[in-house]
Amino acid sequence: MALVEREFIARENQRVADFKAPPFLPRVKSKGLGLERLGGERYLSQEFMRAEWETIWTKTWQLVTRTDDFEEPGSFFVHELGKESFLFVMGDDGQIRGFYNVCQHRGNRLCQAESGILDTFTCPFHGWQWNNDGSLKSVAAPEFFRQFDGGVPAQELGLPVVKVDFWGGWLWFNMDLEACSVKDYLGDIGTHLETYKFQNWHLIDYQTFEWEGNWKHAVDAFNESYHFAALHPDMIEFGEGHDIPIELWGIHSRMLNYNRTVSEVVDDRDSMTELRTHMMSGRFQQKSGERAVAAKDMHLKEIEYRRSIEDQTYLPFKDMNDEQLVHQYHYTFFPNTTFTQTPEGGAVFRYRPHATDPAKCYYDFFIVGHPEPGTPRTERPPHGVHKHDENPGYATVFDGTFDPVLANVLAQDGSNMVSMQAGVASDSFKGMLLSDQEIRLRHFHKTIDDFISGAIGTHKLLPQDHYLDR
Ligand code: FES
Ligand SMILES: [Fe+2]
Repeated sequence: MALVEREFIARENQRVADFKAPPFLPRVKSKGLGLERLGGERYLSQEFMRAEWETIWTKTWQLVTRTDDFEEPGSFFVHELGKESFLFVMGDDGQIRGFYNVCQHRGNRLCQAESGILDTFTCPFHGWQWNNDGSLKSVAAPEFFRQFDGGVPAQELGLPVVKVDFWGGWLWFNMDLEACSVKDYLGDIGTHLETYKFQNWHLIDYQTFEWEGNWKHAVDAFNESYHFAALHPDMIEFGEGHDIPIELWGIHSRMLNYNRTVSEVVDDRDSMTELRTHMMSGRFQQKSGERAVAAKDMHLKEIEYRRSIEDQTYLPFKDMNDEQLVHQYHYTFFPNTTFTQTPEGGAVFRYRPHATDPAKCYYDFFIVGHPEPGTPRTERPPHGVHKHDENPGYATVFDGTFDPVLANVLAQDGSNMVSMQAGVASDSFKGMLLSDQEIRLRHFHKTIDDFISGAIGTHKLLPQDHYLDR
């Protein structure tokens, strides 16, 4: 691990010590954000897609990858967003920088591998070269260029930079060089998640799915739990997705999905079925072997147990409120990053637009875990980009890294992309009717509209309490 990374982790651990995230209590009914229908055009139109590019994608903080992927000078990672490709690389000085991945000769994509270690980046077309700090190394046969009669203008020919920042052990970037820091961007709601100490977590698997639907259908699909009962009958057997707490926080939002309970919409909430036993197994159960608790109350016992051992575990129970000990804190940072986790593990979702087609998107799924300190990183399966028609199945893609029950849930979520994209294009479609349980969608789309209209921007973010529903 690079020195810069070790120092960063030590600093982060110091900074977040003794902080507890505010719980979702007391629960209050949402004040609402209006009742009007949400039209389908925004999922279909090239014009809307262009406006999103100009006002949102080029102005907001984007998550890239784990900082510990940059192990030594020359470690690089290429990331694509819409029509752009970016090159992130650690220079010989240990600094991680970000650049547009574009050759300054005739515009070829410079680095055509996804990751690796290089001290020089050479364009395959005519052989121009750049150093791993983005500076120009050499121009092939500069004597052919009359423009360079007075010398090669190395400054002008350096790779164009993007802004980078670090939060939670992740590298982030922003095309807007004037943007505020990522910490300021995430604001108070980002601070909540610092109790998980993400900087100590490991990335276990990272896979990308090309979905045949607009990127906002994917965000919408994961930002409400109203669909659990119909789409995920398994999920309500070991958790609650019905009438759950939701909070809107500036341009971001969060919801609380309860684990180790049985939804109130299920008749038998007491028995420990095979599925419930499998999905609810927790430290309390493992320790005591107790099965006498009603399934719906398992989370209460687990919280009690975790609190009792908070001084004896590396997991940050001590810094957490009771909800965080067991339940799923599901946070979405505008526009396209979701963190959903318990103290020992979880997932990060990232939604990316297609370069040209509003009817396609990329859904990136990162599986993360919080291992004991000193645990060596294990080798990850290779990153795959799974096209809609070639997806071998989520359980196969995540074989050995994700519970098959949850992989099946993901398959159910993905199954609506094509049909949603088609349905909202119908001449008969009058617009979406959004319930209070879907208020994060209303808030998300209002935020998009506000970015497009210019009411909000990176330099004039709304105060944290705008849209705050508590
Ligand atoms: S386009 Fe890259 S060297 Fe010519
Ligand atoms: Fe779902």
